[in-house]
Amino acid sequence: MTNQICEALNITKPVVQGPLGWITDARLVAAVSNAGGLGCLGPNAGQTTVTKSPQKTAERMRREVKKVRQLTDKPFAVNLYRAEGADVLGNDVYFTPMLKMVLEENVPAVVYSGELHEDIVSQLKEHNVKIIFRELNPTIAGTKKAEKLGVDVIVATGFDEGGMLPSKVIGTFSIVPLIVDAVDHIPVMAAGGICDNRSAKAAFDLGAQGLFCGSAFIPVDESPVAQNIKEQIVNSTGEDLGLFRSEPSYWRSLPGKKPAELLKLDKELAPNAEINKAMGGTQGMRVGMLMGDTDNGYVSTGTGIGTIHEIKPVKDVIDELCDGLI
Ligand SMILES: Cc1cc2nc3c(=O)[nH]c(=O)nc-3n(C[C@H](O)[C@H](O)[C@H](O)COP(=O)(O)O)c2cc1C
Repeated sequence: MTNQICEALNITKPVVQGPLGWITDARLVAAVSNAGGLGCLGPNAGQTTVTKSPQKTAERMRREVKKVRQLTDKPFAVNLYRAEGADVLGNDVYFTPMLKMVLEENVPAVVYSGELHEDIVSQLKEHNVKIIFRELNPTIAGTKKAEKLGVDVIVATGFDEGGMLPSKVIGTFSIVPLIVDAVDHIPVMAAGGICDNRSAKAAFDLGAQGLFCGSAFIPVDESPVAQNIKEQIVNSTGEDLGLFRSEPSYWRSLPGKKPAELLKLDKELAPNAEINKAMGGTQGMRVGMLMGDTDNGYVSTGTGIGTIHEIKPVKDVIDELCDGLI
């Protein structure tokens, strides 16, 4: 099986496991890559404790990269996030050491979010690092700029996704054709709400050539997520998710004591910053999903989880998603 995404990323199935803060590790990523897709180490991959040191954050990721290499010889990715408005290679304290590590370790691909700059793209390309560009708020202008700068793949993410949501409420069915029509020659992947073969086929009908999935890779055997949370997800649907404001815009969670508090704050019109503080920022995912404690953390997923009915091995998820696609 091959298509433009497979060729661009040197994989056999057109699926990328999107970065998932706190809930990826070498085992999950290698399982995705060994099954023919592209696994991606997300923020704090393989970690259970918090560090605020940018240097230590990059060194921890280096160790996880080395572990992936012990488990697979296939391509994989690391997530790079660069704050808007950072100087070129300058003042984004987390980005700079992470980029350095990616280049030193010859990481095959990056899922890049945030501001792109031609010097950074050039450096990555000089080291043969494939660039999968995912704008948090996908735009026609951002897509055209990224293509011109030379990224390899664009991800069009709809509001159906899990994690930190786009500030513009545009669903996957609308954003994918918009971005597909904006590119000239590079392939587009669809993200948001793709958890089964029907949604995968729909994404391809909209012009996507690849699937960029997060939620589908949470209730899997190889995921580090707590067992009670995997079970909660397979027993839930999109109807169970509560949407609340936070920073930078919106988040969703399955029910629990902490999520109820966050929904109440939202209803009472608390400021976004206050809700973000109450959710513990992205650390609330470590508590809720990795530790399985929904009294003190939250459970973020996309709206497509109603089509996930059992906890499965990664390979079965990828085979089902890709059945008959290319
Ligand atoms: C629990 C969770 C954590 C996420 N964390 C990140 C992250 O740290 N960085 C990022 O770029 N995307 C993150 N995402 C977004 C995913 O990479 C992906 O775009 C999204 O999950 C696709 O939508 P889906 O969940 O409906 O498949 C996260 C998603 C989830 C569900």
